Amino acid sequence: MSYIINDKVINYIQSLYSEESKFLNELRTYANINKIPILQKETAQLLKVLLKMIKPKEILEIGTAIGYSSILMAHSLNLQCKITTIELDPLLVDIAINNINNANLSNNIQVIEGDAISVLPLLTKKYDLIFIDANKSRYKEYFDMGKDMLNNGGVIISDNVLYKGMTAVDDSIHRRKRTIVKNMRNYLEYITTIDGYITSIIPIGDGVALTYKGD
Ligand SMILES: C[S@@+](CC[C@H](N)C(=O)[O-])C[C@H]1O[C@@H](n2cnc3c(N)ncnc32)[C@H](O)[C@@H]1O
Repeated sequence: MSYIINDKVINYIQSLYSEESKFLNELRTYANINKIPILQKETAQLLKVLLKMIKPKEILEIGTAIGYSSILMAHSLNLQCKITTIELDPLLVDIAINNINNANLSNNIQVIEGDAISVLPLLTKKYDLIFIDANKSRYKEYFDMGKDMLNNGGVIISDNVLYKGMTAVDDSIHRRKRTIVKNMRNYLEYITTIDGYITSIIPIGDGVALTYKGD
């Protein structure tokens, strides 16, 4: 039995992380008030470290929401990157564009409105990092489309893969979430066995999978 992951440990880890920038903190407050899901704090911290290590020049994000994670990524890379981010909800697209403009990042971040399943085939760039953070039932489709746009040596980061623990533990599954959980389990089985990729699943935040493309 592991005692590493429990609320006290998580609270302790969170207490070690310094405050976000004033702007990102305002976006987090806005998201909380309006019940818009964005990266959890400890996942944001992991992402910042990964970005420093990977140094991606081209990033594709699926699921913009209000632009929090895009802005965080651009700041973490000292603006040495281009980010393409896709969002389905037109209201959120407007809010994200407004936030990105206020952060003076419109040269770095392009928001595309639409369903990623329809938008992805239209993209022609190659990416060094793909961040999947959208409809949990469709991660496999995003992955399959995204992997051909990913450079060798690139990384796909999938958020929320443990989905409040339900992906791992049968007795915690809410009845209405069964299909999502089944799809997420299939997704994790897929990305942990697919040839040419190596995946690590990290029980941080809502669960993060890191998938490296290459030998
Ligand atoms: C968890 S939120 C993204 C949070 C954001 N990455 C952040 O941390 O700041 C997921 C977003 O994905 C969007 N979404 C869901 N399905 C989508 C799809 N098929 N294509 C594009 N966006 C989608 C939702 O509207 C929602 O805003």
